[in-house]
Amino acid sequence: MGERVEPGRGVSVVVPTFREAENIPALVERIAGAFAGETRWELVLADDDSGDGSEALVARLSERWPVRIEVRRGVPRDLSLAVLDGIRSARFDRVCVMDADLSHPPERIPDLLAALGDDVDLVVGSRYVPGGRVDAGWGFLRRLNSWGATQLTRPLVRCADPMSGFFATDRRRLPDPGRLAPIGYKIGLELMVRGGLRVREIPIAFRDRDLGASKLSWRQQLNFLRHLSRLYAFRFAGPVRFVTFGLVGASGFVVDSAFYFGLQSFGVSHLLARFLSFWPAVSSNWLLNRAITFRDRPRAPRGGQWSRFAVASILGLSFNFGSYWALTGFVEFFDDHRFLAFAAGVLAGSAVNFAAATRWVYRREEG
Ligand code: GDD
Ligand code: MN
Repeated sequence: MGERVEPGRGVSVVVPTFREAENIPALVERIAGAFAGETRWELVLADDDSGDGSEALVARLSERWPVRIEVRRGVPRDLSLAVLDGIRSARFDRVCVMDADLSHPPERIPDLLAALGDDVDLVVGSRYVPGGRVDAGWGFLRRLNSWGATQLTRPLVRCADPMSGFFATDRRRLPDPGRLAPIGYKIGLELMVRGGLRVREIPIAFRDRDLGASKLSWRQQLNFLRHLSRLYAFRFAGPVRFVTFGLVGASGFVVDSAFYFGLQSFGVSHLLARFLSFWPAVSSNWLLNRAITFRDRPRAPRGGQWSRFAVASILGLSFNFGSYWALTGFVEFFDDHRFLAFAAGVLAGSAVNFAAATRWVYRREEG
């Protein structure tokens, strides 16, 4: 791996490669030209065992340029993981990731690096900011596909071109690999979303490759959708949980009512029916939340967890009734609009219930 000289100063250009031997010589030369001897740099090719002569080629080129190839063997090929491996093995902390096929202009690398700063964690070479361009050969469908895919990322990141594979960052700002779970091609998007990175964009002109073949397939497009759904689940985990919890609560109301009426039809008094029906409702809520809402949390012993859930429910109920009582009793507006007080009570009760469930009933650690 070589000695680490001033890791903060230079830059490692990390390029995922699969069968790009034809493009490598021009890539190295243009990168060298971009730095013009002013910056310490290296080029790391994160290769998925291309077997197309890339290794021998790089061995030759390395006599002249600071270039090396890290070959991943015995693992399924994966662009995103290759990039992460490349970043890990980089000699410098500042890294720039780009494609091998010269779609991304190496001449812009210094501009990307220059835009990094205290308040910018990641700089994207962007096709979709003013001044940026896609290849003139892109037809309507290709533009539409790219536009549509980008729209899907809107709620996740503030970036006009998060699908770009051309970006610069400082790896000390990146989330550790254990927190990442990329599927497919969009490693930049993964880093931005999971790392909560502050992004800046620099316009670039994207060019289609002249040599070699694109590896983008239908399968990759499908992988992109799977990747997106994971990122949505990550980004909106809190709200999704709250809504699920609310739906479970609503189902509990159905159980509650069923027992309330059912018991009375067997001759049980309405007050006793009211008292009894609470327990099957609490129990089904507890079970559903255990199975769905908090399925990612550790499986605590059932009895103890059920009791905690019952306590949390009673607590929620007290807040529910309490706010209703206080609002209608002391605020004239709510006495005139009692249903609003009712709704406010349900909301307050659910919030208390939810907080207790998240922190205490279905807690992350036992003990
Ligand atoms: N190690 C490794 N493993 N590298 C791979 C693999 C793989 O399985 N698949 C592709 N690559 C490398 C290619 O050799 C190339 O350097 C780069 O990843 C991009 O692959 P292309 O096949 O050229 O992809 P593309 O042109 O369809 O996609 C590019 O444009 C997108 C935006 O339209 C990439 O830059 C994407 O990152 C970018 O989002
Ligand atoms: Mn390409």
